[in-house]
Amino acid sequence: MPHVTYFGAVSLDGRLAGPGDDLAFLDLFEGTFPDGPYHMEIVIAGFDSLVMGATTFRVIRERIAAGLHPTWPYGDRPAWVATHAPELPRVPDAPDLRPFAGDVRQLVAQIDPGLTRTWLVGGGDLAGQFLAADLVDKIILGIAPALLGRGPALAEGTFPLRAFHLADLQRSGSAVALCYERAR
Ligand SMILES: NC(=O)c1ccc[n+]([C@@H]2O[C@H](COP(=O)([O-])OP(=O)(O)OC[C@H]3O[C@@H](n4cnc5c(N)ncnc54)[C@H](OP(=O)(O)O)[C@@H]3O)[C@@H](O)[C@H]2O)c1
Repeated sequence: MPHVTYFGAVSLDGRLAGPGDDLAFLDLFEGTFPDGPYHMEIVIAGFDSLVMGATTFRVIRERIAAGLHPTWPYGDRPAWVATHAPELPRVPDAPDLRPFAGDVRQLVAQIDPGLTRTWLVGGGDLAGQFLAADLVDKIILGIAPALLGRGPALAEGTFPLRAFHLADLQRSGSAVALCYERAR
């Protein structure tokens, strides 16, 4: 089974986006973590595969179409998309999109044995299912210095209390990076 890291950015009130999937708050990270272990590119380079929910996939496609992302931001890593849609729309520069529907334990079991470091991109609905199945090994969060009031939460759903221990924390400007590891 791959090691699964939930890596994402949240507001101070634990939201992944504002109303209407608005990701404008991500601009608050501009200029933070210019290097070191929480530099975005460095964290991303540590993953060989990724999983995301259908809503997150849609928002990324919309951002590409709007020119907010120049291209698919995850390179050629295999990307599993949890969706009830029968097929996924093609995305330029995303050569390996794999739709999945069902129990997330089966999703993780599908990940090729050679892939060992999976990025759980989110969103909160999919993350809640991973937490329910105790499949989250690590959480890396960038915390933005603002509250959003409404919007999707970091984790949604019903799951037992899952304790993580704080492995590291760093600040850069007014942003904070937290790294938690599952205490099993
Ligand atoms: N700030 C960050 O770092 C960050 C990271 C990730 C996401 N986000 C934001 O978070 C928001 C999305 O989060 P979300 O919680 O609303 O949604 P999500 O987890 O991205 O997607 C949920 C959807 O995925 C599909 N799905 C989930 N589990 C499934 C399963 N087991 N089998 C089949 N389909 C499944 C369902 O869609 P269908 O039934 O329609 O197929 C479900 O409605 C977006 O605004 C996104 O931009 C932010």
